[in-house]
Amino acid sequence: MKALILSGGSGTRLRPLTYSQQKQLIPVANKPVLFYAIEDVIKAGAKDIGIIVGPNKEQVMDTVLSVGWDANIEFIHQGDPKGLAHAILVAENFLDDDFVMYLGDNILKGGIESHASRFRDIRPDALVMLTQVAEPQRFGVADLDAKGNIRRLIEKPKVPPSNFALVGIYFFKPVILEACHKIKPSWRNELEITDAIQWLIENGYKVEASIVGSWWKDTGKPEDIFEANRLILDDIQAVNRGVSEGSKIIGRVIVDSDSVVKNSIIKGPCFVGKGCTISDAYIGPYTSIGSGCDISGTEVEDSIIMDGSNIANAGRIVESLIGRNVRIRESECKPKGTRLIVGDNSDIML
Ligand code: TTP
Repeated sequence: MKALILSGGSGTRLRPLTYSQQKQLIPVANKPVLFYAIEDVIKAGAKDIGIIVGPNKEQVMDTVLSVGWDANIEFIHQGDPKGLAHAILVAENFLDDDFVMYLGDNILKGGIESHASRFRDIRPDALVMLTQVAEPQRFGVADLDAKGNIRRLIEKPKVPPSNFALVGIYFFKPVILEACHKIKPSWRNELEITDAIQWLIENGYKVEASIVGSWWKDTGKPEDIFEANRLILDDIQAVNRGVSEGSKIIGRVIVDSDSVVKNSIIKGPCFVGKGCTISDAYIGPYTSIGSGCDISGTEVEDSIIMDGSNIANAGRIVESLIGRNVRIRESECKPKGTRLIVGDNSDIML
């Protein structure tokens, strides 16, 4: 089985971060979201992985290739994001075998191994993964009959026929290519994967569902990223590779190499990356701090702070997503007031 991982798209719901960073590279517990997908397909036995890239393609390629993977990785350029079925068409030459398609901003705790075995055992033309969600209007939704067979799939329905949403992971035989060629763009001008699977159903192909038991997160919006960060941090084990002076480190905390914690309190679960300095600070539960950050005189909780950021005497920061190389500090000049240099579409709560 091959794997096709989607790392294109425009990530409008995560602006301004996605002006400079492809959304699948945003770190969750200090690891790019995309790496969770790559690790998962390799664990399920994929040896050939195609990664769809779009805007910021060099960034995705450099990040993926900065790590050694136990699989062959090929990058396939999509250009403008014209839909998930369009991404399949762009990868047509690569998809000469059964494959799993994995959205690169999805994290599935239990992994895909058991679903991959089911796909191999029952040999349907498509196997879609479903999970129950609170707001089905936000997702592709399955209309199921009394026996749990899929009757119909609908993209973001106003009146959902069930609360079973499609998880962004699908197993296909190459016949899906024919379906993607047959469908027309939707009202939002995208070639929808739900329409391609619906084409399979209507043309007598076998489409099966597999229900996801463990948690699944689509990290398309900031609150989803916080939630994924919390869920991953809930499973970490304490490791201290750094230096701690006059500090209290409580609970499951990772302090990575070359980091120094001085006169501070860190309460887990938390992850402090490599080469950070934390001084006179409080770092509270569910915080991930990237490499090379400097945090002093500040309280941070339930937040993600990316590489190279510097935060000094900034009061209390909660539920915040802070990009790379950001500087937040107390203003020392007059007139006193909040001074902001922020990008388009930023979201600030004071
Ligand atoms: P979405 O989150 O639906 O789309 P998006 O990335 O454009 O985000 P937004 O709605 O905030 O603008 O895409 C799901 C996943 O598939 C995501 O990992 C991006 C990827 N994708 C592609 O690679 N190519 C595409 O054409 C589309 C639509 C998405």
